[in-house]
Amino acid sequence: MTSSERPAAASGTFSIGGDLPVNRLGYGAMQLTGPGVWGEPKDPDEAVRVLRRAVELGVTFIDTADAYGPFVADHLLKKALHPYPADLVIATKAGFARTGPGQWVPIGRPEYLRQQVELSLRHLGLDRIDLLQLHRIDPKVPLADQVGELAALQQEGKIRHIGLSEVTVAQVEEAGKTATIASVQNMYNLARRDAEPLLEYATAADLAFIPWFPLATGELARPGGPLAAAAKEHQASPSQLALAWLLKRSPVMLPIPGTSSVGHLEDNVDSATIELDDAEFAVLLRAVS
Ligand SMILES: NC(=O)c1ccc[n+]([C@@H]2O[C@H](COP(=O)([O-])OP(=O)(O)OC[C@H]3O[C@@H](n4cnc5c(N)ncnc54)[C@H](OP(=O)(O)O)[C@@H]3O)[C@@H](O)[C@H]2O)c1
Repeated sequence: MTSSERPAAASGTFSIGGDLPVNRLGYGAMQLTGPGVWGEPKDPDEAVRVLRRAVELGVTFIDTADAYGPFVADHLLKKALHPYPADLVIATKAGFARTGPGQWVPIGRPEYLRQQVELSLRHLGLDRIDLLQLHRIDPKVPLADQVGELAALQQEGKIRHIGLSEVTVAQVEEAGKTATIASVQNMYNLARRDAEPLLEYATAADLAFIPWFPLATGELARPGGPLAAAAKEHQASPSQLALAWLLKRSPVMLPIPGTSSVGHLEDNVDSATIELDDAEFAVLLRAVS
């Protein structure tokens, strides 16, 4: 297939943990559930089409979590893509219990993390999870116990790489005393850049940085939104500019835009083919400031 048929490849590759190459523009599966990230999606057939189309378009990095549904996104992934293509990396997470729609409760007790990893293996139909991210650090449990359990699962061959989510640089360094950390995932987009210090750290350390809410949960993709004028000028969509900006921001950046529609997916993946120069990069930043 040519690169125009697999546009995600134009985003370039990054090797997670130094040995797991992915095309940098990925896909996030959280939008494939019902309202409040709870239960089945409105259109499960379209969800399956989105996942299959993502892979066709060259996406090799898909982010999911036990908590999405719970396990609804994982069932759709298995239904759509199992047996998985050899080059597909599925990153999942554990550490958030779901007590109802829109409710997320951090639980980092080692026996709970172990249970969720075992369930994720079963629901995804995998023997080993390529990247397991601690969804949130549970403040009630020592960090060494949470990361230590993931390290034990890694030694048992059930996890390949360990990542963290919503963390500070100090927390990454503390976790690094217990296990090798391969990735971090924090909220980051053109309009919300609080995680800038973590991004600088990840870039210097060659650690994958996975920005969640890369489209500011749709705000940056909205027609008439803050990127609308620039989009018209570039003959691109606002969403494409938001993602192209992220891809240019750092070589360790792995955006995972979420969508429940094939049309939006195709729009988003095409962002990989847009190259911004330094002046355009600065203009986009000013457009949302
Ligand atoms: N680690 C964490 O704590 C954490 C937290 C939140 C999310 N995440 C991960 O990050 C991923 C991305 O976050 P997200 O999906 O919540 O937010 P997002 O990617 O910033 O935005 C998704 C929203 O944008 C809309 N959208 C997507 N593409 C569009 C386009 N081309 N044009 C117009 N609208 C578009 C989607 O609606 P449609 O469905 O209609 O396209 C959806 O409402 C998630 O899927 C999940 O994997 C992680």
